Amino acid sequence: MTMRMRKRRNLEPRMERCAEYLISDPEQRKGKWRELCPGCSGLLLELGCGKGRFTADLAESEPQKLVVALERVPDAMIIAMERAKNRSLSNVRFIDGNAALLAAFFAPEEVDRIFINFCDPWPKSRDAKLRLTAPSFLRSYCDILPAGGQILFKTDNTPLFDWSMSVLEKEKWQISELTHDLHENGPVGIMTDYEAKFYAEGMKINRLVAVKTTETLGTAAGPVLRLKDASLTDARGYSESRAAFESRKEQA
Ligand SMILES: C[S@@+](CC[C@H](N)C(=O)[O-])C[C@H]1O[C@@H](n2cnc3c(N)ncnc32)[C@H](O)[C@@H]1O
Repeated sequence: MTMRMRKRRNLEPRMERCAEYLISDPEQRKGKWRELCPGCSGLLLELGCGKGRFTADLAESEPQKLVVALERVPDAMIIAMERAKNRSLSNVRFIDGNAALLAAFFAPEEVDRIFINFCDPWPKSRDAKLRLTAPSFLRSYCDILPAGGQILFKTDNTPLFDWSMSVLEKEKWQISELTHDLHENGPVGIMTDYEAKFYAEGMKINRLVAVKTTETLGTAAGPVLRLKDASLTDARGYSESRAAFESRKEQA
């Protein structure tokens, strides 16, 4: 699924032109992000924003929220920043960094929602810890979200989605929304660059919303789940968690 990124020329001058959007010292912003948008009522964090179609549309549709987008490939992120600048958006900022460092960038409970869109699947079991829905990542999301805070996750990759769902359940996140075909009845919500392409190709998009509860917090205090048999071609355990969700929904 990964699209190879060509090396962009003129990256530095382009970055300079968008300097107002780049937070070059995110550690110094820890606990103080909201000062960047005094009238704003919340902070939305997008992990792996890529070229930022979703980022710009989200910031435009939520003018009362500060949107922070993190991306570790500056050649992609510059396009996202230029999109924000071309639309004169004032409520969005970018971090050129790794999602593994969230604890250094954000204070406990500082973020209201985390968006993970079409993250890299890392299909081999030995790389499962790099998936943005792996237990160690979920623990860091738990730290920076308040109770009731949400992870909103979309992917075309159903094995990744099902694996993520089973990890979320083991970590005691409450799944409040789930679909395996988000756009079944026409386009829903804001699409990312990858999503628009997949949608045009007729591919199905999985989406879930996971909510942090007091149970999540309790689990996060315990030892981190060990990842075994986590290859995405190995379907063990996945259908069980999906069936559990469906039957809970029917009973509700
Ligand atoms: C498949 S692309 C999807 C881009 C965009 N979200 C979309 O849906 O169009 C995944 C993006 O996540 C970024 N990414 C992957 N792991 C990351 C990490 N640990 N920290 C920051 N960015 C990451 C990649 O560089 C890439 O741009």
